[in-house]
Amino acid sequence: MNRIPFIAGNWKMYKTGPEAVETAERLVTLCADVENVEVMIAPTFLSLPLITPCVKGTCVKTGAQNLYFEKEGAFTGEVSAEMIRATGSEYVIIGHSERRQYFGETDANVCKKLKSSIHAGLKPILCIGETEIERNEEKTFQILDKQVSDGLKSFGSDELKDLILAYEPVWAIGTGKTANINQVEEVHQYLRALVGRLFSMDFACRIRILYGGSVKPENIRELMNIKDVDGALVGGASLDPEKFIKIIKYYL
Ligand code: PGA
Repeated sequence: MNRIPFIAGNWKMYKTGPEAVETAERLVTLCADVENVEVMIAPTFLSLPLITPCVKGTCVKTGAQNLYFEKEGAFTGEVSAEMIRATGSEYVIIGHSERRQYFGETDANVCKKLKSSIHAGLKPILCIGETEIERNEEKTFQILDKQVSDGLKSFGSDELKDLILAYEPVWAIGTGKTANINQVEEVHQYLRALVGRLFSMDFACRIRILYGGSVKPENIRELMNIKDVDGALVGGASLDPEKFIKIIKYYL
């Protein structure tokens, strides 16, 4: 199955509007000769309508880092899938561990957010991953199983055709610790088989599964060599376009 590699940059709560525009413009220039890799950057909500026109017609796409599942209403401080789509953005990150950790995101919420993103025509990137304690207690697969099963509950595979999964072990995010090759391989294999059990093996072979957690130019190549790794969700190293391009061009 030919899955096009997908490299995504999660800019988290970094960069003002002008800084985001400058970074996006530089990245577009650096990406001019990128081959057979899809690139996505997710700035803050405020920068999304500023950078989306800058990347139009290039291989760089944009996405949001979160959304609220209602279409509109009295929900102070929230942004809907329709509003994100109206900026021209194609993607949205859902269930990032920082949202789960600091903002009370639950699998039930994740499921609602997935539904609203799909209805609005946004492509969801569903983040899952275990904490260090959960890994040490050998609960990794149990946790992933729950996050995937509950998050994707009530969907048919036809609705999920644009779904991207991102495995991000919480203990590897922003810590400099990357999961080792065997850990990543084992989990990605498990996730594809799990999606196969929940839907079908044909569907499971189609969806892309990204790895995230301290991805950098020095480790991207070996990560991308792992059979079931189809790309990366990059935090810190995506903020600097000169560094991020080395990850995007991992194949050189
Ligand atoms: P990191 O973040 O690359 O800085 O570890 C990854 C993420 O949170 O998506």
